[in-house]
Amino acid sequence: MKHAPWFWTLLGAALSPHTLMAAALDCSDGRPAPQDLERWRSETAEGLQESSLGSRTVAEQIRSCFGPQVPVCLQRMNDYVNRNDVAPSAQDTPVRSSPQKQPPAELFLNGAANFEYRIPEDIEARAAALGWPSVRYKSRHSGGFDRDTASLLMIYVPGDRVNPPVNFDRWLNFALPEDPESEAGRPTPGSPIPSAQDYAAEENGEVSLPKVFTMVSLDRRQGQQPGQVYFQRFIRNGRGQTAFKPEGNSNPKRCVSCHPNGLRAISPLGFHVRKDETMMDAEAWATVKRINDAMTQAAGQRTVSWREAPVSSGSTQKKTLLNPAAFGPSIGPLVPLNGRSRTPEFISQCAERRRVVDLRDIFNRAPGRGNVYRLSNNPQIDPAKILRYMNCGACHGTASRAPLNSLTGWAQVDYKILVDQSMPLGAHKNPLESTSGDVQDALTADERIALANCLQAEYELEKKEIARWLTPGSCE
Ligand code: HEC
Ligand code: HEC
Repeated sequence: MKHAPWFWTLLGAALSPHTLMAAALDCSDGRPAPQDLERWRSETAEGLQESSLGSRTVAEQIRSCFGPQVPVCLQRMNDYVNRNDVAPSAQDTPVRSSPQKQPPAELFLNGAANFEYRIPEDIEARAAALGWPSVRYKSRHSGGFDRDTASLLMIYVPGDRVNPPVNFDRWLNFALPEDPESEAGRPTPGSPIPSAQDYAAEENGEVSLPKVFTMVSLDRRQGQQPGQVYFQRFIRNGRGQTAFKPEGNSNPKRCVSCHPNGLRAISPLGFHVRKDETMMDAEAWATVKRINDAMTQAAGQRTVSWREAPVSSGSTQKKTLLNPAAFGPSIGPLVPLNGRSRTPEFISQCAERRRVVDLRDIFNRAPGRGNVYRLSNNPQIDPAKILRYMNCGACHGTASRAPLNSLTGWAQVDYKILVDQSMPLGAHKNPLESTSGDVQDALTADERIALANCLQAEYELEKKEIARWLTPGSCE
């Protein structure tokens, strides 16, 4: 072993009596014996849970003892204690030198010279001519960054349909001017792309136009190499200014709360519908489906990687920009750590903990203004169903999809269960997906609220079970 021997006596000083007894992890004669490692692991996990041990201390211990060859049984702990030891986003490759962060120039005026992106009025026709699917839609909760409008235009740019072909796909999300209030309920936005005259009118203070467009790109999964995700925002400053310019690198933590797996399926008004809701027209509906399916296909139906930043000067080690799986217990796990949340008794207590769930649009934009869900006066809830559907971890947190955890915005969980009803996957069917041609749902409205409530109550218990979460399997 080329690493200096460590005797964890250092730890003693400021610690609780419990951790004072913590085993020394003695690596002076090579690897510690399995039973010593197991004891050290469980005591260290307790120390981390009680915060009597800091992540950095433990990270250093593991590094000194094992170098890069961390034993399998310490991998999760090692990821957890290093979760904040990530490359700063400023260290990531900038737009200029990452083709993945550059929108296709063909879509923009002047060929996007100087990284200035001017959106032509015929951008949708340009996309169509290039064979790139596009769809107008309205977000009903948190899509887009312009607080004045929920109207968006998505253009999907498959890597094999650009010239020359590239191994990454791009999804561009443009804000469109808001429809008039009378058109708020119509799924497809009607407002045109702003023209030169519109920008001139903005300069005179007559109108306010969208200021942000964004792009998520994915290096397609190849063999065992996971899809690599890139986030980039483009902003337009100042009234009358026509050029959108790339922002500095996005801190992935600003995006992960709503994009746990990188790409986020769009869920427009009129896509997943209830009985009384207007659907998008069939063509737009099919395009949304196609664009969403492409997100999981490009990732090879697997969890994506948030990439490593290039090596910084003065360092030899590449660092990840974010490792979402390292952020503690997950929401709706297959095997909860707390040992009591999957019983009918627990369900009867948690089912009604929120009688009203308010998921109105984050900017109070019109399409999502009515997202308020109330339990009925005498809710009929089948606990067996709730228990069955709490297994979100059958997909999330497996090799196929990133976990939902402390990085995830809770509103996103509520959203998927209550607003668009797309989760649990497959329980709800839209007219175009069901055999009857009607909306079908395996859960009642009350049961959906109960499911969201019970996942929340359970997660409050799970979050505290850091020690159990840190010690899967055994070292012996
Ligand atoms: C508050 C939640 C939230 C945050 C934070 C967020 N997004 Fe999104 N984003 C969404 C939602 C929701 C959608 C899907 C559209 C819809 O259904 O309304 C979306 C869709 C997108 C899309 C279209 C492609 C896709 O994945 O669907 C892009 C591009 C995008 N977001 C970029 C970003 C970037 C870049 C960041 C970080 C700087 C970010 N978003 C942060 C909620 C968010
Ligand atoms: C059978 C697999 C499966 C199950 C079970 C499942 N999901 Fe998902 N989930 C997916 C897939 C696939 C997506 C992406 C497609 C989409 O958003 O429609 C997704 C997307 C999500 C997202 C958006 C973030 C992301 O990863 O894109 C949330 C939040 C979510 N699911 C919550 C839940 C919750 C809560 C449950 C349990 C009540 C659940 N899911 C159960 C497969 C599943």
